[in-house]
Amino acid sequence: MMVCEYKPGLEGIPAAESSVSDVDGQKGILEYRGIRIEELAQKSTFLETAYLLIWGQLPTSEELQAFEHEVRFHRRIKYRIRDMMKCFPESGHPMDALQASAAALGLFYSRRDLHNPAYIRDAVVRLLATIPTMVAAFQLMRKGNDPVRPRDDLDYSANFLYMLNEKEPDPLAARIFDVCLILHAEHTMNASTFSARVTASTLTDPYAVVASAVGTLGGPLHGGANEEVIQMLEEIGSVGNVRPYLEDCLQRKAKIMGFGHRVYKVKDPRATILQDLAQQLFAKFGSDKYYDIAVEMERVVEEKLAHKGIYPNVDFYSGLVYAKLGIPTDLFTPIFAIARVAGWLAHWKEQLAENRIFRPTQVYNGQHEIAYTAIEER
Ligand code: ACO
Repeated sequence: MMVCEYKPGLEGIPAAESSVSDVDGQKGILEYRGIRIEELAQKSTFLETAYLLIWGQLPTSEELQAFEHEVRFHRRIKYRIRDMMKCFPESGHPMDALQASAAALGLFYSRRDLHNPAYIRDAVVRLLATIPTMVAAFQLMRKGNDPVRPRDDLDYSANFLYMLNEKEPDPLAARIFDVCLILHAEHTMNASTFSARVTASTLTDPYAVVASAVGTLGGPLHGGANEEVIQMLEEIGSVGNVRPYLEDCLQRKAKIMGFGHRVYKVKDPRATILQDLAQQLFAKFGSDKYYDIAVEMERVVEEKLAHKGIYPNVDFYSGLVYAKLGIPTDLFTPIFAIARVAGWLAHWKEQLAENRIFRPTQVYNGQHEIAYTAIEER
């Protein structure tokens, strides 16, 4: 057997062949199925982008209409899932609630009929349709309210904001939110996608695949960073405090949240689009001191860390956009998950098409031939 060099974090080691998306980290280019992210952000919708990712090509208008219709009419969650979620502790993190609820879908729909295109379509529709409902339901129930029924007359993003805030959103806010979902829908072989593919490779059901990916996305080095960005901006408090705060971080060798990326060595193209969306929101709904702090942070971090290829990543401006939309900070990562379900499902399908169970090796650095010591002699 060929012996490969061990790389912590598997850096640079291909884990799969994939045609779902591609990143050029040196040039700052991200493409979904070959289409630039800037073009999708400008011209597409989240559901159309999800279709593109999962089925490999843009839908015709009939295909898109049928897909949107199916998703729209599968948004309601079973009473038993709602009742199960009611028992979750209000103090629990919404990502944990989402992971448990996504896994619970498998109790109802797990047939594991993985060779049947109708089963695959049903699972895709059900996951895309119900995950936003479950995120909004947990948010309302932890405040002691009843969940709001999805509105069939609203599109995907407008309906989510409606279920969350119990009022119909402004059309610009809904469109900006939809673009945020497009930007977060997929990003090559990141930690949660890898996790999804490993789980998929065992031929378990897609609900378990998504639940394991949600668990992976929750960590602060991955999707959880956008929550920490807002906490950091609050801690900094004023533009004047940016430089001393960052200098202190660098001296302590602390990571600055929302900056740096394993792949991008220039500014993340999604951060550029999100910055523009944040500006549009502030122009319509009033400015915010956190935006000024963020811009100053980007300037100072570039001055100090550009030589290491450290620039803003997707999480840096997304938190600002969500905060301006009135979304609580601990829902930022569940919202990331709402979007990323599209990418995870695309990778699930791709994994099934040419499956081989993941079974890497390890570099054993323990001992051998150790005698067992009786308990009274230890
Ligand atoms: N702040 C300060 N320094 C940084 C940062 C940062 N955010 N990121 C990397 N560096 C420095 C490291 O200290 C290291 O310096 P050194 O070579 O002098 O020791 C160098 O850049 C390389 O850093 P690594 O940690 O080895 O880079 P890695 O590719 O392993 O990590 C990661 C990437 C995890 C994203 C890292 O940049 C980080 O922790 N960033 C903050 C958290 C964050 O924003 N995560 C969201 C990522 S995007 C996403 O998941 C959707």
